Amino acid sequence: MIELDLLNSTLKEIEEENLNELLEKIHARKQGFYYTIDDEPVVEKINEFAEKNSDFEHIVVCGIGGSALGAICLQQSLGHLYRNKLFVLDNIDPVMIKELEEVIDYSKTLFIVITKSGGTVETLSQYDYFSKKIKENGYELSDHMVVVTGPQSNPLRDEAEKEDLVIFDVPENVGGRFSVLTAVGLLPAKLIGIDIEKLLKGAKVGRDNFLSPDSAINLPFQLAKTQFDLNQKGITMNVLMPYAQKLIKFADWWRQLLAESIGKERKGITPINALGVTDQHSQLQLYNDGPNDKLIIFLEIKNLGAEIAIDSPYKTTFGELLQIEKNATASSLTKNGRPNITISVDSVSEEALGQLFLLFEGATAFLGELMGINAFDQPGVELSKKLTKEALLK
Ligand code: PA5
Repeated sequence: MIELDLLNSTLKEIEEENLNELLEKIHARKQGFYYTIDDEPVVEKINEFAEKNSDFEHIVVCGIGGSALGAICLQQSLGHLYRNKLFVLDNIDPVMIKELEEVIDYSKTLFIVITKSGGTVETLSQYDYFSKKIKENGYELSDHMVVVTGPQSNPLRDEAEKEDLVIFDVPENVGGRFSVLTAVGLLPAKLIGIDIEKLLKGAKVGRDNFLSPDSAINLPFQLAKTQFDLNQKGITMNVLMPYAQKLIKFADWWRQLLAESIGKERKGITPINALGVTDQHSQLQLYNDGPNDKLIIFLEIKNLGAEIAIDSPYKTTFGELLQIEKNATASSLTKNGRPNITISVDSVSEEALGQLFLLFEGATAFLGELMGINAFDQPGVELSKKLTKEALLK
């Protein structure tokens, strides 16, 4: 279950807004992120593939932006913090590739190449490099590489068809940063043992909430309205601060979602990812005492999943200490007149993650409509991609 405490937002009450009208505008955008979670054939195909490919020691994802951040988030949130089977190459720094090759054994590694457009130069470069290396090492490419890409002909898809690789589709109507619950996130998740059915079950609960016409229970709407109203009052930045080490990459995932969706037409909210309690000793001075331009969104977990007593005069546990520090941090912000809200989640589980994805994706969709911008395109990213290609062809 997810709860949203708006008490410290300084808004106290959500101002009236025609929720139905906003929902209609969102539906008119014809986006698939809240429908494709019902796509059972995809889940079946992923499950079948995972069953046949369970022996790999390492999984390497080649992809960037929305084609990488979901997998990174799922691994950090639901996998083991220190035992790693999945490596996500969301960059083209040669050091990353060199050091990856020091760790992996090509005979025991599966590469998942993910790019919706099939034309992103970073990902295609990784494809070119690793497909050659797999072959040079004497292995069948189709045994060690699989592709997740858009359904229409594109450079990667055409190449994958030629090489007879297994291909998973990214639905046309789901944008990169909204694609975590398609094969983009679900395939790597399944291959590292995450229960994707539970993830989707949670997402469906989140979807019901997102589509609710009742503003008193629609959490994505409440969140978006808070972000929007505060933004109108000069709160131009939002900090997402989970109090759970496992959710550090969730804040990274969200940062892209908010930045790329809402940063348009000279409007936008600057997202800042933070981590409790760590950033109390790094960022909190600024949040409490710097310019009053930030909404702090706390993400607290009621049951962290482990409890360890501390043998100290305070007679407490690490989990209790974390919670006490979160409350103290929120109180310090409130005392200083700094808007802050708390989202509470029962635990860091598959169901909770599914709900959280829909909460923030839904809020982003509402925010786009409230701000009068299309949350689902990314002209700034496309321009940079175009200029990179032009520079390469010179
Ligand atoms: O959200 C987006 O659309 C972008 O961040 C893309 O995910 C990113 O640019 C990668 O694009 P592609 O999946 O086409 O390689």
